[in-house]
Amino acid sequence: MVIYLSGEVDDELSLDEMSPRQIVAALDKYVVGQNAAKRAVAIALRNRVRRQKLPPDMAADVMPKNIIMIGSTGVGKTEIARRLAKLSSSPFIKVEASKFTEVGYVGRDVESMIRDLTEIAVEMVRSQKSKEIAAKAEHNVEERLLDLLLPPSKSSSSYFDITEELDTANANANGVKVDDNSQRTREKFRQQLRDGKLANRMVEIEVHERNFPTIELAGPQGVEEMGINMKDMLGNIFQGKTKMRKMRVDEATEYLMQEEEERLIDMDSVARTALERVESAGIIFLDEIDKIAGREGGHGPDVSREGVQRDILPIVEGTTVNTRYGMVRTDHILFIAAGAFHVSKPSDLIPELQGRFPIRVELESLTVADFERILTEPKNSLIKQYKALLETEGIELEFRSDAISAIAQFAGQVNQSTEDIGARRLHTIVEKLLEQISFEGPDLEEKTQIIDENYVNSMLSDTVKDQDLSRYIL
Ligand SMILES: Nc1ncnc2c1ncn2[C@@H]1O[C@H](COP(=O)(O)OP(=O)(O)OP(=O)(O)O)[C@@H](O)[C@H]1O
Ligand SMILES: [Mg+2]
Repeated sequence: MVIYLSGEVDDELSLDEMSPRQIVAALDKYVVGQNAAKRAVAIALRNRVRRQKLPPDMAADVMPKNIIMIGSTGVGKTEIARRLAKLSSSPFIKVEASKFTEVGYVGRDVESMIRDLTEIAVEMVRSQKSKEIAAKAEHNVEERLLDLLLPPSKSSSSYFDITEELDTANANANGVKVDDNSQRTREKFRQQLRDGKLANRMVEIEVHERNFPTIELAGPQGVEEMGINMKDMLGNIFQGKTKMRKMRVDEATEYLMQEEEERLIDMDSVARTALERVESAGIIFLDEIDKIAGREGGHGPDVSREGVQRDILPIVEGTTVNTRYGMVRTDHILFIAAGAFHVSKPSDLIPELQGRFPIRVELESLTVADFERILTEPKNSLIKQYKALLETEGIELEFRSDAISAIAQFAGQVNQSTEDIGARRLHTIVEKLLEQISFEGPDLEEKTQIIDENYVNSMLSDTVKDQDLSRYIL
């Protein structure tokens, strides 16, 4: 048993600031076991942070330590990547390597993964910037709305009927100075606006016309390959036109907020930052890499697997890809590949590609003890999910610990007797176990449902014992 001294992870910490140990601890919250794999990704991530602290000429020579995760289905390969993505402030994308061999994607250009990654990075940076300017944007929007709600002409009827509610309508008559008075009115409006009391009022604002004709130019693929976004282009062409539109204050707030964001965020600098991030911190998770291993030509209409490997190779080795935000160098993007490698082996990959994935980690098959932990330990574990789901209908599910062991036992048993699909088995088993309760749901008389070993046995044992049945049902 390992005890982590500094294991507690502050959720606010970004992946870049975390030590490998902290990264592993963060992953531990979601993924049970698989320490070797967690360590490998943690080290790889830390190494890139280290690289960035080196003098530039040396940094350029330090290549990312790409990883292949090997493990049978349902043991947590994708789960590790998925969690890493959520943790990381790095641009992250998950790509199924096998999709490049599929009929629909014949010859689909693998560089698209870099473009997609860049899109993700741009969106990340943009939303970060939008948080930075949020206060300023909100302030501007508020002022603009107040201008709209309180037009200078005092005889305007809409103005009048609102001010009446505010008890200030007759303030003028009482000899209060106009300036002071209108300032006070404005502040009262501001308060009401902030309290959401004016949400249903109508205002008229100038909007940019967006209803450009819909033209399908070429297939989406062709356009994507050019790295051009048609919608953006058309959006720009029609941006000049404006018209007046009446809308409710709450809608106008949203609209103006967007407009302010566009005005306050410098998209050029967003793009530059995003490109930099992709180049130095991007992570591509290449799932199902075993599906493209093998050097024989493809069968039938599939694109040859070796062909796909050859396409991917330059990207992993380092090349320059043209995106609509600019050129991206792929040298320092980290690749994490994963595959079951049941039929093929990593050595079936073309040698050049093998060399580019120096780190191999094997994920262990999950045991019954692991299943027990997977059911209960992770944040949002399966059991916690079902509990929460039923709680929305006032049903309290209480799992006794003997029930958890029984479920894990059954999962292990079925995995052994039919096919080992790892933790995925838990999903089918628990679903079957709770079928009745899920169905009855709100109609249940007894609001506290206790799940113990007996209940598990009564719901599952017949199905599990019958191999034919379990093959279909579990
Ligand atoms: N070690 C684990 N800890 C917690 N949950 C796990 C673990 N392994 C698998 N799971 C659960 O099982 C499900 C399937 O796991 P995952 O998607 O990671 O499988 P995989 O290893 O990528 O398999 P495949 O080769 O079929 O893609 C996940 O949704 C996750 O909830
Ligand atoms: Mg997977």
